[in-house]
Amino acid sequence: MSHIGSYEDRIRDFSWSIAEKELGFKPGDVINIGWYATDRICRQGKASKIALIHEGFSGVERRYTYNDIRLASNTIGTFLRGLGLKNEDRVCLFMDRIPELYLGFLGILKIGAIAQPLFSAFGDESLLVRLSNAETSAVLTQKKHIFKVRKILDKLPHLKHIIIVDHDGKAPLKEREVAFSLEASNPVEDLECFPAKAESPSVLHYTSGTTGMPKGVQHVHYSLISQYLTAKWVLDLQENDIYWCTADPGWVTGTSYGIIAPFSLGVTQCVLDAGFSTEAWYRFIEKNRISMWYSAPTAIRSLMKGGDEIVKKFDLSSLRHLASVGEPLNSEAVVWSERVFGRPFLDTYWQTETGCIVISNYPGMEVRPGSMGKPFPGITGTILDPSRSEPYPAPGKIGLVGLKFDWPSRMRTYWRNEEAFQKKFRNNWYITGDRARMDKDGYYWFAGRDDDIINTAGHLVSPFEVESALLEHPAVAESAVVSKPDPLNLEVVKAYVTLKPGFAASKDLDLEIMNFIRKKLSPLAMPQEIEFVDSLPKTRSGKIMRRILHAKEWGEEIGDTSTLENE
Ligand code: PRX
Repeated sequence: MSHIGSYEDRIRDFSWSIAEKELGFKPGDVINIGWYATDRICRQGKASKIALIHEGFSGVERRYTYNDIRLASNTIGTFLRGLGLKNEDRVCLFMDRIPELYLGFLGILKIGAIAQPLFSAFGDESLLVRLSNAETSAVLTQKKHIFKVRKILDKLPHLKHIIIVDHDGKAPLKEREVAFSLEASNPVEDLECFPAKAESPSVLHYTSGTTGMPKGVQHVHYSLISQYLTAKWVLDLQENDIYWCTADPGWVTGTSYGIIAPFSLGVTQCVLDAGFSTEAWYRFIEKNRISMWYSAPTAIRSLMKGGDEIVKKFDLSSLRHLASVGEPLNSEAVVWSERVFGRPFLDTYWQTETGCIVISNYPGMEVRPGSMGKPFPGITGTILDPSRSEPYPAPGKIGLVGLKFDWPSRMRTYWRNEEAFQKKFRNNWYITGDRARMDKDGYYWFAGRDDDIINTAGHLVSPFEVESALLEHPAVAESAVVSKPDPLNLEVVKAYVTLKPGFAASKDLDLEIMNFIRKKLSPLAMPQEIEFVDSLPKTRSGKIMRRILHAKEWGEEIGDTSTLENE
């Protein structure tokens, strides 16, 4: 039995006011996440507690107390205000996982601006699409990434400030650029936080859709309520935990559970700004005595590949609780982690749009390896019959995962795209886009996505975006992008391409097209393979049927092809 009671106990009489009370929030009050994550913790007498242990790629470690992160976020917030930035302005964070990313995020929220984190590996085109859609006013970035911003500057009339957080003051600054150094700035003791209300916008994360360009998922400050409670109950974060969330804040896990939740709970968290390596990860756990570890299936599968022997070289006895998110967690991984770490990875399921964990396994609940678990208290889930958009009358069948859209951290809309937001609902159920089955005890078993979105290593890729990039190449006539199975990343991107007259398939052309689209796409969205074909399967109305190609890759039944034109 968990120290916070059984699942059944918690679900009985559940109300989000549990979190509100713990956070000292009453409806109508001001609720600024930046303040909750720093000032409030200091006021609780934890000013000298370590908030963040940061290890950079060169191995240098830096430690920040709660007072340090309070002052640093005040300092960044004050600097941004000094530039004229204000509430609801979009301020992008385009950085590696350096301390300024975490501290800047909080500083942006403190002044009521909207934090727009973007993965630092994005190329200039990926950046352009997202910055122009959000009409972003300022970007916080590093010297090493500035060239990407400079390249697209002419196309971004709304972008007023490019803040370089590691500028040595020597290299000349270009148009709209300004240097900032946290270390060289005087710490700001007092910053008047923007008096955000529950519905004030907070974070804008971009996510891939089935059609069209990426959409901005808009969250509000009230999201704190469910991010706080899910982290407490599901991630089981406790006062003395040393927590490690391996996700990058360019994605929602890295903000909801890599910044907002752990800091508002006042725990100590660690960040490792280095690429994946089995040894480095185990060493990091050993060195920091990590007790709660939140990671992702692809990373776990990579660790499995490293084998059992290497685990024995490290003292990992500090690990108390492990959880995973982002992709299906195969039961082998759960069993393996139990064997080598003495703890199972518990699967948690959610989305950028949900803002917090919505379905999961967690302490106090019987864990079923291979299952995503059950809805969090206060969240109503269902499996809908796709033909009627109504819940199946009995459990057991695979259908659409639907949620009653009423918990605090749900997205409020897609940025300036209310139409796309409304399309996510059927019969008042929010449709996640995933398929699953519920067993008779209410556990959800993931079955796959219900759309063409590809989930590679936990990152969503829109086939549309890859196809659009391909179509810009002069040799490409048509393209269809699907997933193909992969032992490590579960699925990877594969492109089918037909060529325009006068072009012939060859290794050289393959390479040329790959290099051409590499500049346009994020590295995560890059196809692993291009297959040149004479024609693509289409419906009678001429729509390319990715479904057929997908089935071919996965060795599945093709299903109903009655609408096919060129069988
Ligand atoms: O398809 C589901 C998959 O990832 C999608 C959400 O991706 P994103 O918005 O990028 O957020 C990822 C981190 C919260 C879902 O619609 N997904 C997420 N968790 C799981 C999962 N698929 C299977 N099992 C999971 N536990």
